[in-house]
Amino acid sequence: MFWWGTATAAYQIEGATTEDGRGASVWDVFSHEPGRTRNGQTGDVACDHYHRWPEDVALMRGLGVNAYRFSIAWPRVLPEGSGRVNAAGLDFYDRLVDALLAAGVQPVPTLFHWDLPQALEERGGWLNREVSELFAAYAATVAARLADRVPMWITLNEPFVHMAYGYAMGVHAPGRALLTDALPAAHHQLLGHGLAVRALRAAGARQVALTNNCTPVWPASESEADVRAAEAYDILHNRLFNDPVLLGKYPDLSAYTSALDFVRDGDLDTIAAPLDALGINYYNPTRIAAPTGDGLPFDDAGVTGYPTTAFGWPVVPDGLRELLTGLKARYGAALPPILITENGCSQEDVPGPDGTIDDTARIDYLDGHIAAMRQAMAEGVDVRGYFVWSLLDNFEWAEGYDQRFGLVHVDFATQRRTPKRSYHWYARFLEGQNTDT
Ligand code: FCB
Repeated sequence: MFWWGTATAAYQIEGATTEDGRGASVWDVFSHEPGRTRNGQTGDVACDHYHRWPEDVALMRGLGVNAYRFSIAWPRVLPEGSGRVNAAGLDFYDRLVDALLAAGVQPVPTLFHWDLPQALEERGGWLNREVSELFAAYAATVAARLADRVPMWITLNEPFVHMAYGYAMGVHAPGRALLTDALPAAHHQLLGHGLAVRALRAAGARQVALTNNCTPVWPASESEADVRAAEAYDILHNRLFNDPVLLGKYPDLSAYTSALDFVRDGDLDTIAAPLDALGINYYNPTRIAAPTGDGLPFDDAGVTGYPTTAFGWPVVPDGLRELLTGLKARYGAALPPILITENGCSQEDVPGPDGTIDDTARIDYLDGHIAAMRQAMAEGVDVRGYFVWSLLDNFEWAEGYDQRFGLVHVDFATQRRTPKRSYHWYARFLEGQNTDT
């Protein structure tokens, strides 16, 4: 069965951040600090999905997707990050899973989509190796409850973005700006992933994956300096998170760090635990030039000459084909089947006078990327699923509510949901798919 779905994440949609015993996450704290997010917006209410989930499941049933990737909020299940389990938190996801299955939608939960319990941040967050073990214990707790009904688990979402934005540059929670000293946060996430794979399987999980954000890297010119910088970027963005998982070793990081003294014997064997799928989130390629002296070994030169989304991200559907065939060329038989766990675009999406939202650019974006994925499949890449980011307009992290990625428009003042034209387009597209092949 090919999975056609949509994707969301807990902090971006749930709201109800202080209800039913949920503990605080790093995103609650960060988004409440002045100047961290656009207009000081937070996920306190978001899409109020915690209360409106039956309506959201009905929207998925109407859409005709056969899978849904959502995330589980660690602090809802374990308010202090470890130890005491909050039964109401587990009950929420238990009900959601049952409702999805009843609607013919396979639940694909992600265990960590950036909302670390604040209690663990106070112990050093992902810079503290102990958090890797606590993550595996949390995974075991959730799986003990849900593994009988969940066909596919995803451990982490985009450990690169969490390390780079959260720990290296400080533009996402927990807001640390450590530059290359953020590398332990990469290793401990990967170690947490490996330990969680083991814990999930021990608890009866059927299939397990990891989601990485990957990008084709284009040198800004043929100059040696630009080509070398592009290699550095490829190492830090793509290979740092794929090589250890798929090959059991880190790429050569000697140019960026003096010692990998946080890597202990046996860690790489744990991290390289076999996977049933690799999740890939693709948005755009990256064009890289020689460093400018700001402390990073590369400079983002920007992709020019393509249409852009509301975020300013270049729209390059063929980049998805390039990425997938490149992964196959690089990893060969070590590459598991692929799930496109996120792909989509933000647009301005203002309702017209009759209330309809005519998001033709999103339809073109999705249509082009699905075609590029199919081209990669025709070139021999084993892709098993595609999830649109996102079902709903939601809290886009530091960008707040301005960047709308949904197939469904959300009026955040009233919480009214209005399917956009792209929702109807995707529904018609799905009617024409044979999901058994
Ligand atoms: C990805 C995130 C997701 C969403 C999209 C636009 O990096 O995983 O939560 O913000 O970008």
